[in-house]
Amino acid sequence: MSEPFVSRETDDPPIAQEAATAVRVLGFDPFPRPARPRIVTVANQKGGVGKTTTAVNVAAAMAMRGLRVTVVDLDPQGNASTALGIDHHASIPSVYDVLIEGRPLAEVARNVPDVPGLTCVPATIDLAGAEIELVSLVARESRLKRALAEAALPADYVFIDCPPSLGLLTVNALVAAEEVLIPIQCEYYALEGLGQLLRNIELVRAHLNPALRVSTVILTMYDGRTKLAAQVADDVRRYFKDLVLDTVIPRNVRISEAPSFGQTVMTYDPGSAGALCYLSAAREIAERAARAEGAPNDQSFSGTASASDRPW
Ligand SMILES: Nc1ncnc2c1ncn2[C@@H]1O[C@H](COP(=O)(O)OP(=O)(O)O)[C@@H](O)[C@H]1O
Ligand SMILES: [Mg+2]
Repeated sequence: MSEPFVSRETDDPPIAQEAATAVRVLGFDPFPRPARPRIVTVANQKGGVGKTTTAVNVAAAMAMRGLRVTVVDLDPQGNASTALGIDHHASIPSVYDVLIEGRPLAEVARNVPDVPGLTCVPATIDLAGAEIELVSLVARESRLKRALAEAALPADYVFIDCPPSLGLLTVNALVAAEEVLIPIQCEYYALEGLGQLLRNIELVRAHLNPALRVSTVILTMYDGRTKLAAQVADDVRRYFKDLVLDTVIPRNVRISEAPSFGQTVMTYDPGSAGALCYLSAAREIAERAARAEGAPNDQSFSGTASASDRPW
């Protein structure tokens, strides 16, 4: 079970409480290392639901707890690269060169400043053209998979941050991964379009990647003051059941400030509620993975539940 992330009242002055909290975040309590690298695609074709924020913060939290983690930025906007403090102007070698030119992935991966163990494969604006350029290339759906296999990165986790669409870039991510992590924003339209994402995952599984499964759903930007957020969370839990992390990410201003400093919230404000929740979410992901390795039948969602069960 995850550690508590709400600071308890003590007689310590606020600064000491903050320091104690920061130590809990930065502490030495390592996360379990998976038996083999886990490749996780963070997908949802809606924009602004917390894909990038989740990818970079879960990745940073894991690295801060001793795991080796790579974030592959697959969105031409390059938001994950920005949040990780990695330069991604047009002439930087990037994931575009990997996908289109066949450049080795290890050559373009960069170490993330301030977070040992974390690397980033940056995206530049060139990637915007890749959706079209990929169409005419051989094995267009599996170029990222091949690049990752050839690179044999020394990573325990690879998180692939997808663009907000279901085009060839996202297909490459779904073919390269075994797991999909779906962030769902606790808002009215959250569930709209999710059916389409699940159908696409089913299609990729049927035709291109039989190992693919939705392994994790995370509720993001939760506003505890609204009934609606609770309702959306209930619907999501009813449908995805145990795949939904217990930890819910609240709407938190420190999370949204961090990228403008080229940082994750994990380094920008390790004692903030946002950082503690992402730490807790990362722990759940790592611990669930460790448990699943021990158990022959993990409860992953294989996408075969009937459409009539869906709340959308
Ligand atoms: N928990 C949160 N609290 C406050 N702001 C958030 C939170 N999660 C994400 N944001 C902000 O919301 C916006 C969209 O998030 P982002 O992760 O970029 O979504 P996506 O990658 O799905 O488009 C960003 O400006 C981000 O900083
Ligand atoms: Mg994004």
